[in-house]
Amino acid sequence: MRKPPDSIASIEDLRRRAHRRVPKPFMEYVENGSFAELTLHANRAELDAIRLRERVMFDVSNRKLGTTMLGEPVKMPVAIAPTGMCGAVWSNGEILSCRAAQAFGIPFSLSSNALLSLEDVAGAVDKPFWFQLYITRDRGFSEEMINRARAAGCSALILTMDLHVEGTRYRDVHNGLGIPPRLTPSNVWSIISHPAWAIAMLHSKRWSFGNYAGRVDPSHIREMAELVKDQLDPSYDQKTVEWVRKLWPRKLILKGILDPEDARLAINAGADAVLVSNHGGRQLDGAGATASILPDIVEAVGDRTEVFADSGVRSGLDVLKFLGLGARACFIGRAYLYGLGAFGEAGVTKALQLLYDELDTAMALTGITDASSVPRSVILDAGRRKRQHQS
Ligand SMILES: Cc1cc2nc3c(=O)[nH]c(=O)nc-3n(C[C@H](O)[C@H](O)[C@H](O)COP(=O)(O)O)c2cc1C
Repeated sequence: MRKPPDSIASIEDLRRRAHRRVPKPFMEYVENGSFAELTLHANRAELDAIRLRERVMFDVSNRKLGTTMLGEPVKMPVAIAPTGMCGAVWSNGEILSCRAAQAFGIPFSLSSNALLSLEDVAGAVDKPFWFQLYITRDRGFSEEMINRARAAGCSALILTMDLHVEGTRYRDVHNGLGIPPRLTPSNVWSIISHPAWAIAMLHSKRWSFGNYAGRVDPSHIREMAELVKDQLDPSYDQKTVEWVRKLWPRKLILKGILDPEDARLAINAGADAVLVSNHGGRQLDGAGATASILPDIVEAVGDRTEVFADSGVRSGLDVLKFLGLGARACFIGRAYLYGLGAFGEAGVTKALQLLYDELDTAMALTGITDASSVPRSVILDAGRRKRQHQS
């Protein structure tokens, strides 16, 4: 395992390294937002615009970053978000990322659309992880997947609600990562010119969506991609969540909630937590940045449930901002994928350590000693920001 050099100081440094090692089509798959990428950029712009209240008149020698997410102890209020095709960034990346997260002490979420299957990951790690489910047209298949997640010992199910249909990502279309996938001369060249990545990929357990392997021969990548796309289901709703709730006895998180009323419906349908997320700007382009929407959702359901947030986190300072806006914890997508793409498992560990150290520093300089009770006042002008968003 190659240790990241000491000169890596930020998630941005990991991002640059990942671009050097991973072929362009796969890095663009990670970086992409949908359509004109307005929401992708808004996520960052909104977090960047938030100013933190520095407080200096307190003893901050003892800081506690550890907290709980749905009753599970975590070393910091961060979890790894589900990301499809994570194993295309680094061979067997799902297992490596899960190991890094578990060794660090935070939850790892496996996507339905990962390359490795639930069973591949469960057989290679020691502790339970979280599983993300897309509801499929074939409800029998969704039920099967829920049962498999149960059998694999997953302690939480993340039901993604914002993919009734898929937002178009132009860069994926250009790069041949659409349906069907195309091997264009430029992506063949890109693969050849990244030999370390290509040689490592020869050792991958799988090359296509492992969770669907029972349905289509996994070596038929085109058929597999078509199946995954065909199974997107525009009809799921609150009743479907109630149905999942009956099948899944452990913790249930509803992901992709961006509206206070939807958050109430999610809780009424039996969710244990909501994840305020715009899918990292990959679904509805023009949807609000999560940082601007989060406070209203916390106000609507924060006394009944745990509210998590994602989309745009690139530093521990961003984590503190989301905590100040009322989230109990954040999820990270690209921030961990950059570490994975740059240095594999050691890179994921590095990304997590960077976020931890940055959050620790940010807490000390804002006079906060407990990450589980960050006051709203840490956000400078919180009241004015709320009025601006309402007007
Ligand atoms: C490459 C990539 C693949 C993703 N795949 C999934 C997925 O399969 N299921 C899902 O619910 N969300 C998926 N997401 C969204 C993430 O779970 C998360 O909401 C998003 O990455 C958060 O934004 P961030 O990347 O800025 O941290 C994906 C995101 C990325 C970047």
